[in-house]
Amino acid sequence: MTSSNEDVVILAIESSCDETAAAVVRNGREVLSNVISSQIALHTLYGGVVPEIASRKHIEKINQVIEEALKEADMTLEEMDAIAVTYGPGLVGALLVGVAEAKAIAYAAKKPLIGVHHIEGHISANYIENKELEPPFLCLVVSGGHTHLVKVADYGKYEILGRTRDDAAGEAFDKVARAIGLGYPGGPKIEKVSKEGNPEAIVFPRAKVADDPYDFSFSGVKSAVLNYINGCKMKNIPIVEADIAASFQKAVTDVLIEHAMMAVDEFGIKKFAIAGGVASNGTLRNGMKEACEKKGVEFYHPSPIFCTDNAAMIGAAAYYEYMAGTRHGWDLNAIPNLKLGER
Ligand code: KG4
Ligand code: ZN
Repeated sequence: MTSSNEDVVILAIESSCDETAAAVVRNGREVLSNVISSQIALHTLYGGVVPEIASRKHIEKINQVIEEALKEADMTLEEMDAIAVTYGPGLVGALLVGVAEAKAIAYAAKKPLIGVHHIEGHISANYIENKELEPPFLCLVVSGGHTHLVKVADYGKYEILGRTRDDAAGEAFDKVARAIGLGYPGGPKIEKVSKEGNPEAIVFPRAKVADDPYDFSFSGVKSAVLNYINGCKMKNIPIVEADIAASFQKAVTDVLIEHAMMAVDEFGIKKFAIAGGVASNGTLRNGMKEACEKKGVEFYHPSPIFCTDNAAMIGAAAYYEYMAGTRHGWDLNAIPNLKLGER
């Protein structure tokens, strides 16, 4: 692979949860390689991510994943302009593996080190396949750990309009999936069984947070599903999993879309993007597309592979940080509760 002198090529590493990932990204938008080693099968045995197992697996896999990413890009470490890594938020032990690795590589190869916020990565995943997308735009970040409605004012400049007060959207999918016996990870499984179900069969609550109309709360809908299941058992009514899944999925996506459109109306920004694992959900994507079309808003979303955790999105975010002059020192540490916009 040849790159001109003006090109900026970044090796990015992501290990904040249960994927060990490395990617080589040119100029923030061109993915030269994107290697993901998923631990999902391992954690499925326990019904969710076990942090200690995640850290150990990251250690086992990280070198191999990085080597593969460089090989696939047909580039060497010496050809990289910087080494980027997710340093928060996430599981501290998992983050530490990536941070320690990135520091060691950057130090040995004498390359700049750039720490990246995981959510900034998710948002930046939209740049990869939408070459024309530039801030300002609005973005709904929905993953297993986060539900944020964000105004992207500029590259690296974020204003959080709303966030969840309790469960993240993906977490609610995972918990409901477990309750109806579908297993982990719940999102894709709920989406699949929903196709056989009626989204209007059961009315689950669309929670509002009184003092902040942009905030979300998903613990209520999760409890409503659990209560519904218990009620059925007590009254000996058959439990139709597909109807529960479809009705739950509708309740969650309705609220996400409603808040998104409220922000469109208030801020008058005609570009809306979605990001994070839940952004690969078809009902959410179709609903957002329709709602955006009605308001003449351009709708953006990454392909599913760039929605769930990956390192290409970290490379995309790192490019804009690199251009803005962000450089981290050898004291870079994992910050499990890192806030968006903090350095
Ligand atoms: O972004 P991600 O890979 O990791 C975090 O940063 O959390 O998101 C994982 C989450 C899980 O909760 C998973 O159930 C959910 O995204 N998810 C989905 C779908 N695919 C993944 N939720 C709904 N529908 C999907 N198709
Ligand atoms: Zn994520």
